[in-house]
Amino acid sequence: MTEDKITGTLVFTVFTAALGSFQFGYDIGVINAPQEVIISHYEYILGIPLNDRKAINNYTINSTKELPTVPYLGDSIPTPLVEEETTASTSLVTMLWSLSVSSFAVGGMIASFFGGWLGDRLGRIKAMLVANILSLVGALLMGFSKLGPSHILIISGRSISGLYCGLISGLVPMYLGEIAPTTLRGALGTLHQLAIVTGILISQIVGLNFILGNHEQWHILLGLSAVRAIIQSLLLFFCPESPRYLYIKLDEEVKAKKSLKRLRGGIDVTKDINEMRKEKEEASSEQKVSIIQLFTNSSYRQPILVALMLHVAQQFSGINGIFYYSTSIFQTAGISQPVYATIGVGAINMVFTALSVFLVEKAGRRSLFLIGMSGMFVCAIFMSVGLILLDKLAWMSYVSMVAIFLFVSFFEIGPGPIPWFMVAEFFSQGPRPAALAIAAFSNWTCNFIVALCFQYIAKFCGPYVFFLFAGVVLAFTLFTFFKVPETKGKSFEEIAAEFRKKSSSAQAPKAAVEMEFLGATETV
Ligand code: GLC
Repeated sequence: MTEDKITGTLVFTVFTAALGSFQFGYDIGVINAPQEVIISHYEYILGIPLNDRKAINNYTINSTKELPTVPYLGDSIPTPLVEEETTASTSLVTMLWSLSVSSFAVGGMIASFFGGWLGDRLGRIKAMLVANILSLVGALLMGFSKLGPSHILIISGRSISGLYCGLISGLVPMYLGEIAPTTLRGALGTLHQLAIVTGILISQIVGLNFILGNHEQWHILLGLSAVRAIIQSLLLFFCPESPRYLYIKLDEEVKAKKSLKRLRGGIDVTKDINEMRKEKEEASSEQKVSIIQLFTNSSYRQPILVALMLHVAQQFSGINGIFYYSTSIFQTAGISQPVYATIGVGAINMVFTALSVFLVEKAGRRSLFLIGMSGMFVCAIFMSVGLILLDKLAWMSYVSMVAIFLFVSFFEIGPGPIPWFMVAEFFSQGPRPAALAIAAFSNWTCNFIVALCFQYIAKFCGPYVFFLFAGVVLAFTLFTFFKVPETKGKSFEEIAAEFRKKSSSAQAPKAAVEMEFLGATETV
């Protein structure tokens, strides 16, 4: 028996695959810093005169910041709009911007169903290659958006990039899990989230005004993903196909061994092959479960409800409201250099994600999720209090800023990474693929709702907006406390018993008879 070791091929392969997760993060963060610049370009192509653009400041509750003047050569000075027209233009621009942000999540929502399917059909490597076509097309549409109707090109480009990200949000964690040696599986799995947050941070840095987030170069900022897609596609040719796919799906033992030898550095791979043989037996002894069966079969109902709630909680905490719109939130909170504060958020986000890689193996998933959500609840209250009192006390801007930093830190301690891998722990082989697909779909759907509605909610609630998120977070904290079992170090049978305990405390004892263990068929 040999110790699992980290080989050069493994590092190279993990790096290559994680470039996909990196793109997911880049697309989330990239739209944040250049918001003002792109909005003023929209206003220009829609023919809104400069004078009236001052009235059309996007979501800012108390903003006093001057709008930048855009050097449109040959632009004749248009007559100012009457008040009614200005309001109509404000709504149009707000709508176009909300769509530019949220169309990404629509793509993600649709494609999240197909990641696993594509990986099974083409193999993991080819699936990632094919997905890159979407990334390339999306990037090119955005990169050349200055040449045509920018708003249409950006909205469609973001939807197509979203399709790519939806696919890889299933493909990358699956591939990483399949190539990792057993003892490194947890750590490699969390690299998906780490690559996402790195992507967010890098997009915020290159989005700085003096780098690419300016009137001349914002289209390059959006189109830059094309370079990543090309690099990853080239590197993928040198990556070994998943041995699990080769062995379990295709029954190609020789090829699987070859791929394993490359990943493990030519050492004895009997241990991995034996493990895969066991997995294959398990998979063939259990029937596949459809998405509908997940809801109709009483054995799965409770765990699938909890799985969905974890993802809904993650998104409705409002986290992506911060990642999509933090620059304008900081501006509203009176921070003089909002883009730097945004980068601060990205950096803190990364540090705490790295920390959670270690924490998650020490503390339980449930406790970390609860600690994270409770912390976010307190921070959300302070975020709103900071905004409300800003008029009276100037230093409140720092309270809001620190509260946002802590909000993000608490998110990454638990609610960020945990739902992505905890759902897999609730289910055995048979129901797992359906459960993961529906969980990813619900995550993207809620991501879309937040991306689309955040600006409207913020306008409607003004500085009280984060009280709303605090309320939502509190409700999910209570749900977690009462309904979510601990899964760390437990077998499926033990997890099923935990679910049984939770549901029988709320329902009649009949529930206890119903669930033998997850993955088994319904018992009477
Ligand atoms: C999680 C969420 C994603 C969010 C990210 C922030 O991966 O699923 O929507 O943007 O965390 O770090």
